[in-house]
Amino acid sequence: MKVIVTGGAGFIGSHTVVELINNGYTPIIVDDFRNSKPFIINQIFKITGQKPKHYAIDCCNYKDFETVFKIEKPEGIIHFAAYKAVGESVNKPLKYYENNINSLVNVLKLMNEFDVNNLVFSSSCTVYGSAKVIPVTEKTPTQKAESPYGNTKQIGEDILHDYFKTSKNKNISILRYFNPIGAHPSGLIGELPIGTPNNLIPFITQTADGIRKSLTIFGNDYPTRDGSCIRDYIHVVDLAIAHIKAFEKQKNQTSELETYNVGTGKGTSVIEVVECFEKETKIKLNYSFGEKREGDVAEIYADNSKIISELEWEPKYSLQDALKDAWNWQKNLKNVK
Ligand code: UD1
Repeated sequence: MKVIVTGGAGFIGSHTVVELINNGYTPIIVDDFRNSKPFIINQIFKITGQKPKHYAIDCCNYKDFETVFKIEKPEGIIHFAAYKAVGESVNKPLKYYENNINSLVNVLKLMNEFDVNNLVFSSSCTVYGSAKVIPVTEKTPTQKAESPYGNTKQIGEDILHDYFKTSKNKNISILRYFNPIGAHPSGLIGELPIGTPNNLIPFITQTADGIRKSLTIFGNDYPTRDGSCIRDYIHVVDLAIAHIKAFEKQKNQTSELETYNVGTGKGTSVIEVVECFEKETKIKLNYSFGEKREGDVAEIYADNSKIISELEWEPKYSLQDALKDAWNWQKNLKNVK
């Protein structure tokens, strides 16, 4: 099965491309490298022995994107390409709406034009906001988004539901990612934050590497077991495999739209992550407590029973594995760039 992977050189995209190749799919990467690097394609080759075909185009440019469909005649699409920095989205909302929404609309128009019936869409647990009952199931009501970024994911899901009602023979899987972390166990691909990282793990690994002086833990008086926020950290390879499982199910369907939580089902606090990292790497992290970050929810983790039973997926990697792999990648970065 030939699959277009938008954002296929990015963090989650590149790991998914590796798993697609490992599982006999032919991924076609569409990525203009605005938030990734060309050498990642080579790294994918080193891991899999196959160099995926690649188009450096902007998914918002319909004509360019259309050319890829014309040439490749794909059977499926995974749509990763999107901006995802929560803070930046608050300051530049139109940048987020323009890119994240237009690219999705183009994907759907092209699916119609070229009769492509299978889509996996990257959504986020951010749609649940500050949920009253935890763990969250797919039926947990969504809440008004805290940021334009979060809103683009909610609007994206709404667009998919409206599109599905009017289309025939389309299979759509909406995957709500919890907190993807880690890197490929080979140490050849991983997260590549450009500038100051927004997320916890690259901040930790850069601090351990001496690139940053210290880590600030945002808040220590949340109503949680140790006062720091609780999240569901999932190894990026486990997350990548969820996309393959979604396609495997779609192959036996003619028309369905399903939403799945992709998380481990386990909540871990920021302090627990830091302690686990220290134990795994034997590195003492320089950190202090700071102000709460605006928009952060105290606690969220997944009820993952739907994806486990319907897609026969389950997380294989532990938090220890993920932190070890993230650290391994950080150390390797000097050699691969
Ligand atoms: C956020 C979004 C999520 C999105 C993801 C993508 C929300 C609620 N969540 O996840 O939807 O998919 O970004 O980037 O909008 N932390 C520190 N110090 C740091 C960095 C983070 O203490 O320097 C803490 C945060 O307060 C949080 C945890 O670490 O409790 C994880 O933060 P982060 O990695 O940024 O992910 P989320 O905010 O959970």
